[in-house]
Amino acid sequence: MDDQVAFFQRIEALRAGVDRRLAELAPPLGSAPDRLVEAVRYSLLAPGKRFRPMVTLLAAAEFGAPEGAALDVGCAFEMIHAASLILDDLPSMDDAGLRRGLPTIHRAFDEATAILAGVGLLNQAYAVIAADRGLPAPLRADLAGRAAAAVGFSGLIAGQARDLFDRDQLRDPAALDRLNHEKTGVLIVAAVQGGAMVAGAPDTAVEAMGVFARHIGLAFQIRDDLIDAQASPEAAGKDVGKDAGMATVVSTLGPGGARQAMDEHLAKASDALARAGCNGLLSGYVGELFARRKAAA
Ligand code: IPE
Ligand code: IPE
Ligand code: MG
Ligand code: MG
Ligand code: MG
Repeated sequence: MDDQVAFFQRIEALRAGVDRRLAELAPPLGSAPDRLVEAVRYSLLAPGKRFRPMVTLLAAAEFGAPEGAALDVGCAFEMIHAASLILDDLPSMDDAGLRRGLPTIHRAFDEATAILAGVGLLNQAYAVIAADRGLPAPLRADLAGRAAAAVGFSGLIAGQARDLFDRDQLRDPAALDRLNHEKTGVLIVAAVQGGAMVAGAPDTAVEAMGVFARHIGLAFQIRDDLIDAQASPEAAGKDVGKDAGMATVVSTLGPGGARQAMDEHLAKASDALARAGCNGLLSGYVGELFARRKAAA
């Protein structure tokens, strides 16, 4: 079979496996008030890229983890991500109307339900890691702690607060990198390193994977800001033009400069991946995701 066809089939099979497991891990109807369960499932199972669980699974595979060993850990990172999107879209934050091609949860349901669904998903994510009997207990505790820290006051929550309230202080590239790392990169670092740790990768490799993921996270937010500036809502599946008038890498460097910065991060990510000794599907998966944005630019 053509190598490229085999690559896409493998990636698609992994993604389908994530979707199936997420549907099992989401609260079933009847387990909590129907409206809340419906809202959680509406957000979590909506068609996203599943980027975080995919990098967890692919990082685990790079270091020889058995098939499926990192599935629940990856799904936990997707739950955290879905929660972050729910909060990010709220009227008090980005006030968004469209997400993953559907009305945002607070519009399809109501704001209180959205907040409860987001907080519930965060908590469920840690519980999923803690309950993963396929992993040794100390590793589960370590992973749950890392996931919680990635959300906390030096991660996503801090980044969101900075994004909303400290925008006027974001005048230089280092400050923008810090914002982008906190609000987006930290979770991607935890997802990638989590996959490597499930596979029992040595500490030096886990560290190199952290450098890889840091650059991927920064490139990912630049890619997202390019989409906000350039794509249609239909193509993006979400509101665009939300960053207009705000300091971003795109508004600071212009689209060409932002694309160059994205490429520089991808090159550094690739170096770190090589240092970690990875030569499997992870690099192809990430490369393909960013290539599509470059082609669209
Ligand atoms: C969007 O994330 C929010 C950012 C952190 C940039 P994704 O681009 O991964 O969104 P989905 O999961 O595919 O919907
Ligand atoms: C992404 O920021 C950070 C999150 C944690 C959700 P954005 O506000 O740019 O994300 P989108 O563009 O709404 O997906
Ligand atoms: Mg936002
Ligand atoms: Mg937003
Ligand atoms: Mg955005």
